[in-house]
Amino acid sequence: MKTIELVIDGKKVQAEEGATILEVARENGIYIPTLCHDDQLQPAGTCRMCMVEISNNGRKKLVASCVYEVEENLVVKTDSEKIRKIRRMIVELLWPTVPALAKEFGVDKSRFVPEHTECCLCGLCVRYCAEVKKLNAVYFKGRGIDREIAFVPELADECVYCRECFNLCVGGLIVNQCGSVYS
Ligand code: SF4
Ligand code: SF4
Ligand code: FES
Repeated sequence: MKTIELVIDGKKVQAEEGATILEVARENGIYIPTLCHDDQLQPAGTCRMCMVEISNNGRKKLVASCVYEVEENLVVKTDSEKIRKIRRMIVELLWPTVPALAKEFGVDKSRFVPEHTECCLCGLCVRYCAEVKKLNAVYFKGRGIDREIAFVPELADECVYCRECFNLCVGGLIVNQCGSVYS
């Protein structure tokens, strides 16, 4: 496996080809906030909370660090006022479903009307159930603002005994909906 050299937040680091920026940052004790990422699952790159600024050959761009693979001589900035502004905006858009991130970024209200109150649509439950549990008891239903999590009724019985994805859910919907299936 080829070794790659890059710089993250001013620190020269080495990484294996194919590793993501998030993985390499974590290996080197550098914190990047995440929402839709979990080490047990394939990266999805949907929430953009892990956004970082990269530059290579003078060209700068923002990328999702959980899916972007390291490159030779890449210079990565994991934190800046611009990046924090984007993260605060994401938190506002997901308000009030991501309380821990709201606290972390000092967001205590949103300029937007909440579309959901218990689910940030991170998809962790859907991906966990598909990839780890291999059951697909939950899925995304609808599009755009109507997008929501739904249970497959004939498979949801398993949730009461399983509950494996419950601790991944930041908004609590999976726990509450599972309860409502049986109430
Ligand atoms: S609790 Fe239900 S949705 Fe979650 S992993 Fe288990 S079976 Fe799947
Ligand atoms: S129910 Fe929970 S885990 Fe599933 S998408 Fe919504 S917030 Fe994420
Ligand atoms: S944690 Fe990277 S896009 Fe969600």
